[in-house]
Amino acid sequence: MRLPKAGTIEIAPSILSADFGKLADEVAQVEAAGVKMVHLDVMDGHFVPNITIGPPVIAKLRKHSKLIFDSHLMISEPEKYATAFVDAGVDNITFHIEVAKNPPHLIDKLHKHGISASICLNPETPVESIKDVAPLCDMVLVMTVRPGFGAQKFMPDAAKKVIEVRKIVGPHIRVEVDGGIDAATTPIVVGYGADTLVAGNAIFGKKDRTAAINEIRNSIK
Ligand code: DX5
Ligand code: ZN
Repeated sequence: MRLPKAGTIEIAPSILSADFGKLADEVAQVEAAGVKMVHLDVMDGHFVPNITIGPPVIAKLRKHSKLIFDSHLMISEPEKYATAFVDAGVDNITFHIEVAKNPPHLIDKLHKHGISASICLNPETPVESIKDVAPLCDMVLVMTVRPGFGAQKFMPDAAKKVIEVRKIVGPHIRVEVDGGIDAATTPIVVGYGADTLVAGNAIFGKKDRTAAINEIRNSIK
């Protein structure tokens, strides 16, 4: 599968704040709430100072969910591991511009495997750095916190980069935001042109996941 076609607003719950001991149940809860995709944060303890999950966990989770798997590779060598994530069953791979050696080549490879390819930039990384590669992607992910941990404070200046990114990509490529997204920050980023909203703590940090998702949905005018 691939990411949903641009033109709709999608909420992508991030499992980083879920209970990893019962991941399949946690994902089933957000699936029941009607989201189309789930955001899988992969960290290598090198590109970011934290370690999470890899292909074996994703491959097992794949058997329990029909959701679109939006994987966010916060790893130093995305080229080296991309195929392992494709084989695990992800539908999109987002890799970071800060570490990718040959982004067009990797994007092409992912497309040949039949999945979506997306590029991500950290709060400190200028939009200029993704200008040439963005039109080749299915989605551009603008980090609104420094990657590595959930439940951090939303960075308003980083979010403003969405305006510039949207100008570059036009209406047919998704613009995702990740970090500190909740019912208060959603109207801001949607106003800037974001259409794909990653939310970890604001969903999995709450007991009632359906209510949490609806709260974000209802915050969009
Ligand atoms: C941060 C991750 C995020 C994280 C967002 O490094 O990329 O996807 O889960 O978490 P919240 O929504 O809690 O800020
Ligand atoms: Zn993420």
